[in-house]
Amino acid sequence: MYLSYFLLCLYIVHALANVEKTIFVAPPAISIPTAHPNLDDLSLIPLSPLHLSVRTRLNASFPTDDAANGSEHWLLLDGLSPGARYEVRICWLATQPTAFSLDTFTLQNVFDNPPLIGSLSAYAYARHAEIDDLEHQKLVARRAKQSPGLSTSTEDRASILFLRIFAAADYYTLDKSLMENVPPVLVDIILDPYILNIFPKSLLPTAGYIIVVAVLGWFLSGYVWQLVLKLVISAEDGKSKQDRQPKTKTS
Ligand SMILES: *[C@@H]1O[C@H](CO)[C@@H](O)[C@H](O)[C@H]1NC(C)=O
Ligand SMILES: *[C@@H]1O[C@H](CO)[C@@H](O)[C@H](O)[C@H]1NC(C)=O
Repeated sequence: MYLSYFLLCLYIVHALANVEKTIFVAPPAISIPTAHPNLDDLSLIPLSPLHLSVRTRLNASFPTDDAANGSEHWLLLDGLSPGARYEVRICWLATQPTAFSLDTFTLQNVFDNPPLIGSLSAYAYARHAEIDDLEHQKLVARRAKQSPGLSTSTEDRASILFLRIFAAADYYTLDKSLMENVPPVLVDIILDPYILNIFPKSLLPTAGYIIVVAVLGWFLSGYVWQLVLKLVISAEDGKSKQDRQPKTKTS
């Protein structure tokens, strides 16, 4: 019964929120210059083992010939453990139907590919225009002290990736303003390290819960089975006694 209740909860949560994800292995650590312009100057939202999630609004748009997958966004995945497996999930409400796609790129991938550099720098300019100094400082502070001990004054060593997110509006409505201006989508973006490279850490409590419920269910079902068996046996006993009693009378 608890299991079915749990499954129902999962179903409800699933019905209200959608999830898209990408799984990747962190690249080797590389040297990153700290002199400006540096990674902080891109004003990207960083996700790292110190700050595993962020709730933010992402611009979305209907697919066009120029942007087949909708609006493009860039985030920074920082302070990763080289060779470790991670996943990044994006969760959004079903009330804002959107098609997301996620990809990760190493620094080298991006700098070897002119369209990627172009898109990253266009996004960085848009971010600069959008956020104020205070917000920029917050982003820098969020990224600071990722790998203490590894950094010298002129360069950091860190395993980093760029995360690219496309957000395409995925609805049709007669409301003309909603068809012309897609409202930004409220999302949670979550970096999730895998345990032993096989299991997402954040699922551990859920897995533990399922195991506990399963084990309890196993013992409980054994107990209930014995109870039923006892009842049946005593009922049959009673019945055979009743069966016997008339016989003893007649005989
Ligand atoms: C859009 O998505 C499709 C399918 O995932 C992909 O093949 C294509 O390269 C993407 N477009 C861009 C501009 O990345
Ligand atoms: C999001 O959309 C607004 C309004 O269209 C625009 O001004 C802003 O630059 C966009 N932000 C990004 C990061 O593209």
